[in-house]
Amino acid sequence: TVTRYLLRVNGERREVDVEGDTPLLWVLRDELGLTGVKYGCGVGLCGACTSHVDGEAARPCVRTTADSTRTPITTIEGLSRDGDHPVQRAWRELDVAQCGYCQPGQVMAAAALLARDPDPDDEAIEEALRDNVCRCGTYPRIRAAVRRASR
Ligand code: FES
Repeated sequence: TVTRYLLRVNGERREVDVEGDTPLLWVLRDELGLTGVKYGCGVGLCGACTSHVDGEAARPCVRTTADSTRTPITTIEGLSRDGDHPVQRAWRELDVAQCGYCQPGQVMAAAALLARDPDPDDEAIEEALRDNVCRCGTYPRIRAAVRRASR
């Protein structure tokens, strides 16, 4: 049954009319036009869709819309006003992306890590980003950018 859901996305209240079990990823991309959130596997394994739910890294491909109404959601589009989050700056300075497809998810995973641990050691960085897959293999630059963005 199509139902109206009220979501809080990137600081705005957004209403969508969808079936409750619609994956949040489709709502973000197709209903709200937030196509910085990428579809990779659709089953929570690749990290391409990583966004923040209540400030924590989360995978909207495996959350239903009905389960997403109570907590603030942030996508890469809402991470900073004009791309000036420290993680985004470090990403540009080190020219991290190759094809770029996985990078919004990588950036969001890194930003969530630094929000809870501003000075992570290499092990913590590895742990936080281990399940964000990059087919181009930009891992060394990703890790370096996270270190640069930390204080
Ligand atoms: Fe969500 Fe792969 S698309 S984890």
